[in-house]
Amino acid sequence: MADVSFVDKVVLITGASSGIGAATAIYLSKTSAKLALVGRNEKNLKRIALYCEKYKGIAPLVLVADVTADADTERIVKETVEHYGKLDVLINNAGVIGMGGIKNSNMETYDRVMTTNMRSVYHLTMLAVPHLIESKGCIVNTSCIAGKKPSSMALAYSLSKAALDHFTRCVALELGPDGVRVNSISPGFLKTNLLKDTALTEDQLEMFVKNVVGSTPLKRPVESDEVSALIAHLASDKAKCITGCNYVIDSGSLLH
Ligand SMILES: NC(=O)c1ccc[n+]([C@@H]2O[C@H](COP(=O)([O-])OP(=O)(O)OC[C@H]3O[C@@H](n4cnc5c(N)ncnc54)[C@H](OP(=O)(O)O)[C@@H]3O)[C@@H](O)[C@H]2O)c1
Repeated sequence: MADVSFVDKVVLITGASSGIGAATAIYLSKTSAKLALVGRNEKNLKRIALYCEKYKGIAPLVLVADVTADADTERIVKETVEHYGKLDVLINNAGVIGMGGIKNSNMETYDRVMTTNMRSVYHLTMLAVPHLIESKGCIVNTSCIAGKKPSSMALAYSLSKAALDHFTRCVALELGPDGVRVNSISPGFLKTNLLKDTALTEDQLEMFVKNVVGSTPLKRPVESDEVSALIAHLASDKAKCITGCNYVIDSGSLLH
């Protein structure tokens, strides 16, 4: 585990019920972070919270909420600050994928993907900023290499992540003088529940995974705990001179 400490730091993680967010919650629980975990799936969220509590005995705050609903987003920030008295780190990680290019797209996919991956981040960040200014805290956004490399298979997803990268830079510029850092990470392919939301059959999914992983120079998928370590580093004091940056963790995918 990275040599980072989050003693007395309040960390809010969206999409903590699964994949990268769950792994990051577990990773940070080992560093004594006080966690607020957000997701819609209560059962999964509570399971992850129990797992986190095992390490340092600190029970996370569980917030069952939909980040696309404004009232829920408001509740997420309000309840976190009421519970812990402050907010030090915001990890905007919740995300969905939608398949299709411009020839086979539909507006439902565009709206769902952009609302979850970008609008909710805009709103949650806006509400969290006064608290982050007070704590001189920081933000880490989970983007994707699809935001850098054009995708004909997942157009709306690719757009949402390109927007998130620019959002990261703009907000970092604005909040720098307030002592708040803002960075993003761009993972390559990971085996999480993200792809379950596509219309791909099991066989197609297996073929997709094989092709994507096989095409990386390192011939391996990225693991969730490797992404968590990068997020933890950027959110820690070790990164106190890093802001407005995007870190790629992709087994070399972008080299092609
Ligand atoms: N897997 C990859 O290959 C990959 C690569 C690059 C970047 N990423 C990014 O990594 C992030 C996490 O994805 P993952 O791979 O860990 O996928 P995942 O296992 O499907 O996790 C997605 C998380 O987002 C949450 N979420 C989705 N919609 C939500 C909503 N409306 N309200 C609240 N929570 C919501 C889900 O929670 P509930 O279902 O409980 O709501 C879940 O915890 C995403 O931003 C994704 O774009 C993934």
